[in-house]
Amino acid sequence: MEALKSKILTDGVVLGSQVLKVDSFLNHRIDPVLMSGIGDTFAELFADAGITKVLTIESSGIAPAVFAALRLEVDLIFARKRKSLTLRDDIYTEKAYSFTKQEENEITVSKSFLNAEDRVLIIDDFLANGQAALALARIVRQAGGEVAGIGIVIEKSFQNGRQVLLDAGFRVESLARVASLENNTIRFVE
Ligand code: G4P
Repeated sequence: MEALKSKILTDGVVLGSQVLKVDSFLNHRIDPVLMSGIGDTFAELFADAGITKVLTIESSGIAPAVFAALRLEVDLIFARKRKSLTLRDDIYTEKAYSFTKQEENEITVSKSFLNAEDRVLIIDDFLANGQAALALARIVRQAGGEVAGIGIVIEKSFQNGRQVLLDAGFRVESLARVASLENNTIRFVE
């Protein structure tokens, strides 16, 4: 998606060779016009996939996911992150280990918001190692539903997340694929 790539080039800040800071339009301040375009693009990509729900994880996945859900005319559910929870039987729970942040999150979704008839589009802001998307997919499976695809705003293609998700059999659509952040320079996959 050209508008997203341009924005990454003008506003993205490279932190070392591993992290791309995009606080100015995605992770802290949000550019609603860009987000709306991102929603349009996801909706076009998954127009024929029979999506019944969009699922993301708080907090930065919510903005792109809500625009995708709006265009697809389905509900958006965001998984909540908790450090620990007492056992409850009205929620689906999965663990997601973040290599970037070196912490384990327990993510939860109310059982009343996903069911076996759902075909779910998973959306997230970043794809690094794929663990958040896999945990969301396990929650869909717990509900008996099907993952129709995974939509990513920014994929760090130099990490293994895309391969992990493809190996698990998922369709992955990333709107910007960053090949490298070496030498303080953002390079996209050709
Ligand atoms: P994974 O799901 O692909 O395995 O990714 P990982 O756990 O390694 O990443 C954990 C968190 O770090 C996620 O945010 C993810 O969006 C973020 N992240 C990973 N790489 C980058 C990067 O290069 N730049 C930025 N800006 N973020 C990155 P989170 O903890 O869920 O935070 P938030 O959604 O509350 O903002």
